[in-house]
Amino acid sequence: MKWINFIFLILLLTACGCQQNPYQQGERLYSLHCANCHMADGKGLMSLYPPLNTPEFQDYADQFSCIIRQGLSDTITVVQKEFIFPMPAIPELNNVEISNIYNYIRHTWQPHLAPKTAIQVQSELDNCTK
Ligand code: HEC
Repeated sequence: MKWINFIFLILLLTACGCQQNPYQQGERLYSLHCANCHMADGKGLMSLYPPLNTPEFQDYADQFSCIIRQGLSDTITVVQKEFIFPMPAIPELNNVEISNIYNYIRHTWQPHLAPKTAIQVQSELDNCTK
């Protein structure tokens, strides 16, 4: 094998290595934008921030994109606790990033839910109630 082919092969293998975890961008964005409130393990924080790692997450799955883009200022009950503080909107996240965060959460704590594509995110956003 010519050395140039060998280098090409190494580069190719390294590039494939990066793709092994499809949830990498979602994980990075989750740590950057969500973990400070919902915590890295998705447990939330006392009565301030609700958990994302419980079955009740499913009740918000259809509104997920709207919650991220517009925030949420309801009083909601998750695992028998009331959450009265609002969640601020995170408007800088685009549709692909929202779907990657959703798919990371789903893969990590909600494996029974179906993944979301960026196109599904757009159709959710088209139907936000606010
Ligand atoms: C500044 C703190 C804060 C940040 C940052 C934040 N949230 Fe929230 N989140 C909240 C609060 C507070 C609520 C409850 C809002 C309410 O009671 O109306 C909430 C509610 C939710 C809910 C619905 C309730 C549930 O338990 O499923 C989801 C889903 C959610 N957040 C996901 C996210 C995701 C994903 C991110 C990152 C992209 C994020 N949040 C960033 C504070 C935050």
